[in-house]
Amino acid sequence: MKILVIGGGGREHAIIQKLREDPRAETIYALPGNGGIAADAICLGGSATDIPGALAAAKQYAVDFVVVAPDDPLVLGMADALEAEGFPCFGPRKNAAILEGSKAFSKDLMKKYNIPTAAYETFSDPEKALAYVDACPLPTVVKADGLALGKGVLICETREAAKNAVRSMMEDKIFGESGAKVVIEEFLTGPEVSVLSFTDGETIVPMVSSMDHKRALDGDQGLNTGGMGTVAPNPYYTAAVAAECMETIFLPTIRAMKAEGRPFRGCLYFGLMLTPDGPKVIEYNCRFGDPETQVVLPLLEGSLLEIMLAVSQGRLAETEVRFSGKSACCVILASKGYPQKYDKGFPITLPETSENEHIYIAGAAEKNRQLVTSGGRVLGAAAVAEGLEKAVEAAYALADRIHFDNAYCRRDIGRRALEARDNG
Ligand code: AMP
Ligand code: GLY
Repeated sequence: MKILVIGGGGREHAIIQKLREDPRAETIYALPGNGGIAADAICLGGSATDIPGALAAAKQYAVDFVVVAPDDPLVLGMADALEAEGFPCFGPRKNAAILEGSKAFSKDLMKKYNIPTAAYETFSDPEKALAYVDACPLPTVVKADGLALGKGVLICETREAAKNAVRSMMEDKIFGESGAKVVIEEFLTGPEVSVLSFTDGETIVPMVSSMDHKRALDGDQGLNTGGMGTVAPNPYYTAAVAAECMETIFLPTIRAMKAEGRPFRGCLYFGLMLTPDGPKVIEYNCRFGDPETQVVLPLLEGSLLEIMLAVSQGRLAETEVRFSGKSACCVILASKGYPQKYDKGFPITLPETSENEHIYIAGAAEKNRQLVTSGGRVLGAAAVAEGLEKAVEAAYALADRIHFDNAYCRRDIGRRALEARDNG
């Protein structure tokens, strides 16, 4: 089979490496791909949001299957466009991707179907939003309705901060039209868990749980980033919590989407908070998480391609999805200064890897046959081992064998998870 993967980050590299394990995956194209992905796929360049470009590539290379990995092309309707031209896709259609594309939509869906989430109000009039903020409980959470590169959520301790958030989103339009509407919601507390799932709209199969580390600095300090590391499984996500989530969140969500005439086919990502009142949905994403994928897929046994085909053909119920009982950790090596200003263009030296080690390239380009840094998050060093402690050790041992100037990583990925495991 010829497979086209849309996207060009660490997540896509992990997907491509896993797809390649199936002997049916004869040729994999990546659009755009990146300098590191080029070792595992034919990189086409271009832009992941270019729908006509993706269609043209699918035709030119006569691909049999397309995996649309990032949120923005899905929300724009890339899967619809490809399927309309006869290219089967892994990834939800536009009318289901709205679960991530509009927070107002997802909140209203949860309210209508009694799916536990933070209490909220939606506003499209800045005056009303400002009046609400004058009296709401603090802290409060102000969210841009649409996609905002993961930056559209502001936790506000004071009324002044909440008003500034409302004004910057609704009046100054710092996220463009994504902030034309805002959701203002109750501040929740508790450990966060990411659960990715496969679903064909009828059947839902959760993958192994994971924990992201979003802040730039050790001890969860510093600015929010796209993710500085992950571990799987997440020790807070016990079998009892998993059973409760299946009953109160996962099944109700796919049933709700079906009932609304928006069956969700693809990877549905549940961002959960385990609050004192039980698990609640913080957000839905319509795609694999980054860098969650980099710890979840190495634990998947069997063929990712087979599962993705089954999802797109509506036969997930008959397909085996199995995870090894091992643990995984991924440490992101970033450019010093990320998520703000950083230099790029530094040569990267990669070591040999063993079967249990994976290097997923996110922000690197090839220049004169040399891999050089080209982004804030440069790559992920991931390792699989028996137990979380060994996985964390192995991921850092791998990270420490990778070199480029100005490399920065958090040194405490997995620490909180290990403490949770030891305390509970
Ligand atoms: P999101 O982009 O929706 O994932 O939000 C980013 C982060 O903001 C989440 O991972 C949470 O840590 C935090 N967050 C979002 N909503 C809430 C909430 N209602 N209460 C507390 N923290 C939240
Ligand atoms: N790691 C969070 C996300 O992919 O949105």
